Amino acid sequence: MATIRVHTTYIEDAVNDHAKTLYPEVEKAHKTTVDKTGLGHEFLGWVDLPGRMDETLSAIETTAKRLRSIADVLVVIGIGGSYLGAKAVLETLDGYFTTPDGMDVVFVGHHLSAAYMEELQATLVDKSFAINVISKSGTTTEPAIAFRFFRRLLESKLGKAEAAERIVATTDATKGALRTLAEREGYDTFVIDDDIGGRYSVFTPVGLLPVACRGHDVNALLAGAKAMMTSLHHAGDTDALYRYVAARQALYQTGKKVELLVYYEPKLAYVAEWWKQLFGESEGKDGKGLFVAGAAFTTDLHSLGQYLQAGERHLFETVVSINKPLSTLTIQTDEADLDGLNYLAGKSIHDVNRHAMDGTLLAHAEGGTPSIVLELERLDAHHVGALLYFFMSACALSGYVLGVNPFDQPGVEAYKVNMFALLDKPGFEARAKTLRERLGSNEED
Ligand code: PA5
Repeated sequence: MATIRVHTTYIEDAVNDHAKTLYPEVEKAHKTTVDKTGLGHEFLGWVDLPGRMDETLSAIETTAKRLRSIADVLVVIGIGGSYLGAKAVLETLDGYFTTPDGMDVVFVGHHLSAAYMEELQATLVDKSFAINVISKSGTTTEPAIAFRFFRRLLESKLGKAEAAERIVATTDATKGALRTLAEREGYDTFVIDDDIGGRYSVFTPVGLLPVACRGHDVNALLAGAKAMMTSLHHAGDTDALYRYVAARQALYQTGKKVELLVYYEPKLAYVAEWWKQLFGESEGKDGKGLFVAGAAFTTDLHSLGQYLQAGERHLFETVVSINKPLSTLTIQTDEADLDGLNYLAGKSIHDVNRHAMDGTLLAHAEGGTPSIVLELERLDAHHVGALLYFFMSACALSGYVLGVNPFDQPGVEAYKVNMFALLDKPGFEARAKTLRERLGSNEED
């Protein structure tokens, strides 16, 4: 049974008709993905991954149990695809103000803020912590810098040997500086398979180990992904997938260049961040692709609402709608009713939120901002697993329909090359000279 439904009622008929004409292309892209015959086919290991994780999952659970028994905090070091999957799942499954009984999980290495690192260092001095350093390439600058710091902190507290027992490296099987370091120091390791790229790695140890350490049900998460994999790729239950892929492509082709992932439950903020990386890095190339961003409603209706209703008409929304309330909290009656809210007395806040969503969908459609609605039954580990797998599949198909390789990210290198040159990394001297000349002329301006 499908756990996700996609509705396109808030899109003009002509665009929906256009979307229907794209179905043969979407179907072809689906076949290309499953048969692993398209551009970047060497990175399609994620497609059947949820069906072959049993052994790795038990190793992940064993390691998580060991880490939980020796430390209270897990410091997860990674960036991009080596960070966002775990962060998205944790934010969604944790309570807003409570977490399960497992380890606290903190993230670092996903930016270069010295203040953040210094404050985290100060916080960890008195805590019992372990480290999961994650980098597929094993050479990414941001996590490498963070790992140098926090490894030293752990070693200074416990000594090298005991610290090594608390460090788990998730990296390539054979290549990269992190693999070399892990082998030299004797860290536990998990492997990121060659055929799985960073942004498609949430169901590998990259995403699963931090989630297991926190104490969430990784079996249920993976079962949700597996159920979605079976339904999309084996049982032919493709209606939601094809609708989403065809509708966003039809909207793009008819002038909507921005897709906002809208959510009415704030705990989905990092699902939106993860989704942003997934689609942004997969589609944004060769001068093509939707610009993707996330928006928290109703919060952002009070900041972006004006633009969305009446600004430039170049965007559409994909709205994640959760059926089952996470809370049944209702609004009370107030005798004086000075705030005039008694007309809501007895209604649940979930209901008010839902009416806000329906009202906004209608208003935005009238204002020329169409919406695709993605309906999810509930927000538990199983459904989150299904949702993330659904998006990964939709992204692969979308990339193929767009005519790009959805599994590379050559554009990400440009800033790194300049940064290395400006930091005087050996081998980048010529580039450094050109950049300094340009910076010099900017200063003169
Ligand atoms: O999707 C990707 O491949 C990237 O976003 C990477 O995940 C990110 O750059 C981090 O790379 P690495 O895991 O090699 O440190």
